[in-house]
Amino acid sequence: MTQQIFIAGLLKDRVAFVTGGGTGITGGVARALAEAGAGVALVSRQIDHLEPAAAVINEQGGRAFAVAADVRNPDEVAKAIAATVEHFGKIDIVVNGAAGNFLCPADQLSPNGFGSVVDIDLKGTFNVCRAAFEELKQHRGQILNISATLHYLGTPMQLHVSAAKAGVDALTRNLAVEWGRHGIRVNAIAPGPIADTEGMKRLVPEPIKEKLRQRIPLGRFGLIKDIENAAVFICSDAANFINGAVLVVDGGHWLAANRLL
Ligand code: COA
Repeated sequence: MTQQIFIAGLLKDRVAFVTGGGTGITGGVARALAEAGAGVALVSRQIDHLEPAAAVINEQGGRAFAVAADVRNPDEVAKAIAATVEHFGKIDIVVNGAAGNFLCPADQLSPNGFGSVVDIDLKGTFNVCRAAFEELKQHRGQILNISATLHYLGTPMQLHVSAAKAGVDALTRNLAVEWGRHGIRVNAIAPGPIADTEGMKRLVPEPIKEKLRQRIPLGRFGLIKDIENAAVFICSDAANFINGAVLVVDGGHWLAANRLL
């Protein structure tokens, strides 16, 4: 489907390092980058999630490689970067999609619960960016962070994720400024409610789903495909002058979230 929208081979000769790349939104992004011609390293804690995803990409003629690393552990991240460079010869796209989430009211959230999500989403994103810097500098590469819209307004039971993703947005803008001079573009995508994800199944209670859908101006939930298409665009040369952007892909949801009618 991506190739029906984008010209074939749009990202050929590129190599992407995709954290959280086995499943969910970033699993889709990894597949889409591979369909567009990039070699992709799928990176997460659980190699058994990654290997089947890599096998599917390889069976369909893509180039995928699975490597286990916890983004919270800088040494594991550095080894995964080195293994990817050894396998594919370079890295010129980093997608930070590894994330943790659960619903919890702030007055019941433990310091360790708050910290775990900040460690994965925010500090993990920094660890990967930092470890990939020399590679990205050498190849004038780019970073695509997966953010959220939760922190634009107050989202109950999502304090920990909202705080972490606000940090991811700050990191995106700061690195865009500091690393832009090396030719490294740093952007983010902020997905709204995406229907075919684990998060939507697990985090949004059934009775709330229809109410939520009605609040989305485009009248439907997003699909992983919508995020894939945005990611392929940002990673392509069509976005060559886009740096420091947080591209909201939510059907207009957050703008309308507080409307009266
Ligand atoms: N409600 C409240 N607190 C929770 C929680 C929940 N549902 N799930 C985890 N926590 C707290 C734990 O109680 C613990 O804090 P404590 O030591 O004070 O008790 C802290 O978070 C760490 O939990 P733990 O499971 O040991 O951490 P982990 O590092 O193995 O994993 C997550 C952290 C966020 C990845 C884990 O909660 C998880 O597996 N979530 C589901 C998978 C997921 O998030 N997928 C991404 C979808 S967007």
